[in-house]
Amino acid sequence: MPNIFITRHIPQAGYDRLAAAFGPDAISSFDEDRATPRDVLFKCVAGADAIFAILTEKMDAEVFDAAGPQLKVVANMAVGYDNVDVPAATERGIPITNTPGVLTETTADLTWALILAAARRTGEAERFVRAGNWHSWSPTLLLGVDVYDKTLGIYGMGRIGKAVARRAAGFGMKVLYHNRTRLSTEEEQALNATLVDFPTLLKESDILSPHCPLTPDTRHAFSTNEFTAMKDSVVFINTTRGPVVDEAALAQALQNHSIFSAGIDVFEEEPTIHPELLKCENAVLLPHLGSASEATRGRMATIAADNIIARLNGDTPPNCINAEVL
Ligand code: DGY
Repeated sequence: MPNIFITRHIPQAGYDRLAAAFGPDAISSFDEDRATPRDVLFKCVAGADAIFAILTEKMDAEVFDAAGPQLKVVANMAVGYDNVDVPAATERGIPITNTPGVLTETTADLTWALILAAARRTGEAERFVRAGNWHSWSPTLLLGVDVYDKTLGIYGMGRIGKAVARRAAGFGMKVLYHNRTRLSTEEEQALNATLVDFPTLLKESDILSPHCPLTPDTRHAFSTNEFTAMKDSVVFINTTRGPVVDEAALAQALQNHSIFSAGIDVFEEEPTIHPELLKCENAVLLPHLGSASEATRGRMATIAADNIIARLNGDTPPNCINAEVL
């Protein structure tokens, strides 16, 4: 019987899948809804054949070594894997897997929830109503910026970027994108999208949303210079990874009104948020909810479980990031 460790409380579907494959006794978990403390993690992974990992836990050399040489797979329940030291895993011959595809549409939906909320100031407006401050309809109350007919800028046109761009058609928007590779002519036409250089993206977007992975190249891709180059009416969104944005610079741009507003789901040091950003009325802040629908989180947990099952049964895990170790 294999030894599978789950680093925190997960959707039941993932647990059931593993239990059906190997029996409930094969599974142990830190079954709490909080990140596993590091010292607890080291003890719990000892002897594990598989780790079912969540992005709140760093999966690095110390964890792999604490697990031991029998560790056969680390399945991350997320499409992003910046919490995993992939080179350290590869060095030890440990396959790392992720959960691509299933969260694309759900994350694109949440991106749009933030676009509309930040453009039309719905967070501020809700706080205003609940505080008992609404006394009459007013021609000048809480005026936002329009979304329809505007230009959506997308930095990183992968699966989620395209899903966000597709939704823009319903708002009659033009799409500009900046990406390492150009989409096919058919895709560009279908998305009404034009490839532009980064300065043009910054200068011409009315709504700007990065959808790149976090890499050394994209860390702080948006900082003071970039916010300064944007329109002062821009709505800036981030549902990818916090460190893609320099949070202090974002807070300053919001406070100076050198940008109009922001809708932010991910932060540099989650769950800590830069204190200056917390003060900004013109920011809508969410607790990393991009993929947080019941159906999608259930699918993510099932896919992570399937990757573990495949590996422990001697098959190729379907979503291996470092396939060279197999
Ligand atoms: C991911 O899968 O990378 C997401 O950030 C989790 O919602």
